[in-house]
Amino acid sequence: MYEDRIRRKDLMGKIMSAEEAAAMIKDGMIIGTSGFTPSGYPKAIPLALAKRVAEGEKIKISLYTGASVGDELDGALARAHAVSRRLPYQTNESMRKAINSGEVEYIDVHLSHVPQMLRYGFLGKMDFAIIEAVAITEEGNIVPSTSLGNSPTFVKAAERVMIEVNLSQPLSLEGMHDVYIPEDPPYRKPIPLVSVDDRIGTPYIECDPDKVAAIVITDIKDNVRPLAPIDDISRKISQNLIDFLSNEVKQGRLPENLLPLQSGVGSVANAVLGGLVESPFENLSFYSEVIQDSVFDLIDAGKMTRVSGTSITPSEEGLKRFYKNLDEYRKYIVLRPQEISNNPEVARRLGSIAMNTAIEVDITGNVNSTNISGRRMMNGIGGSGDFTRNAYLSIYTTPSVAKNGDISCIVPYVSHVDHTEHDVMVIITEFGVADLRNLSPRERAKVIINNCAHHDYRPMLMDYYERALKQGGDVHTPMLLNEALSWHIRLQETGSMKIK
Ligand code: COA
Repeated sequence: MYEDRIRRKDLMGKIMSAEEAAAMIKDGMIIGTSGFTPSGYPKAIPLALAKRVAEGEKIKISLYTGASVGDELDGALARAHAVSRRLPYQTNESMRKAINSGEVEYIDVHLSHVPQMLRYGFLGKMDFAIIEAVAITEEGNIVPSTSLGNSPTFVKAAERVMIEVNLSQPLSLEGMHDVYIPEDPPYRKPIPLVSVDDRIGTPYIECDPDKVAAIVITDIKDNVRPLAPIDDISRKISQNLIDFLSNEVKQGRLPENLLPLQSGVGSVANAVLGGLVESPFENLSFYSEVIQDSVFDLIDAGKMTRVSGTSITPSEEGLKRFYKNLDEYRKYIVLRPQEISNNPEVARRLGSIAMNTAIEVDITGNVNSTNISGRRMMNGIGGSGDFTRNAYLSIYTTPSVAKNGDISCIVPYVSHVDHTEHDVMVIITEFGVADLRNLSPRERAKVIINNCAHHDYRPMLMDYYERALKQGGDVHTPMLLNEALSWHIRLQETGSMKIK
């Protein structure tokens, strides 16, 4: 049943149960796994490990992944209290709780940085890499499944490797991947990628067969996340984005088929990108990290012809659609390690149009993507920073308000800064577009308040801005030190940013 998947026959002897493999994991180990968004992560070994710990064994590991992973890994291990350190990204409720309670030390890292940081020795010595595969080649190399993430470097850097061969992942994923690991300084060369669909590496992850400690056969499916239905607000944001991009084409600042698009994670990002199906743009290309349902919509509509990412990140229906039409989609899609999909050198060379989502933005253009009210971790910075600073155009979208209007997503000052005013060029809400290019902080504040803020909050923001200008002394950046975070304090005390 799995003979066609394990083609190197002397590795057959390494096949064992998930429990036997998990028994090799000891307290204090650093474990790196495949997986990026809930796609292509190992499931059987983490579940077996969580069971052992839940039954009383004292094990706490450092868990490194590509990005977020499914509940079988982050959720099960967090609930078993089996994780002491986590990086670089997560979206799991149980893991988020463990991070925010202080039980898990969470290191929120730019995703493209992780593999080189591991190779440089900044993140310690990895004991095991656990990689989900669709097959093992005759040479012993690993054919990954629905994501690539950090797997190539984890396999290279780890002492030993465990492979979960997942029979639920179709063999026809083979050939979609392009694995390239850059040399480390002082020997690094330019990454030889000049077009979205260039292939510069191998379709498998190189692996020394002597490093393989265990092979586990499983058929647990990717536990993908649902996407919220597309609502009116997302539709308006998407229309504002299309109008903005159309004008850029008209002004001669973008070609008619735009430049390679990058789109962030989540329901808003998916809806905004999906809106391009109705746009006049044709022959679009995508150089991004996650490939959400909207990319399949654009391919099916004949609007998008070249797609590069590091993971297939669909909803449940999207995953079914992907598997069903895999032979067609594989003509368009290349999956790369996140070090390449999110590489600043490549994003700047290709001229990426980066479109990410903010939790809140402030009146001079700083963006918070991660920490609710400055303290509570939501997901993490992910790849947003990799693209934002290096994009041809860096765009942030957000609904103007959250939580039924009690929170303004445009605030006097962000409660946490992920992307600074120096990196953010355009902000879009359902109300309009703030084009911040070539504007000073004082000019930006007026454009952001007038074009993007919700009507309920515009007078309050304008009042803050005007009083900030009137305060004594010189004012380059409009800020009232004693009021900058007063909206967040009011939210904490009264449940709303509105003045009652
Ligand atoms: N204050 C408090 N809560 C807020 C908020 C704010 N200013 N803005 C949004 N929220 C809440 C929403 O109410 C929602 O809460 P819920 O889950 O309880 O319903 C939640 O945050 C998610 O917001 P939503 O509007 O549904 O957005 P989303 O699913 O598109 O996610 C981010 C938005 C910012 C959380 C998400 O894009 C993210 O994690 N980004 C960082 C990583 C990244 O950009 N990666 C892309 C690189 S390719």
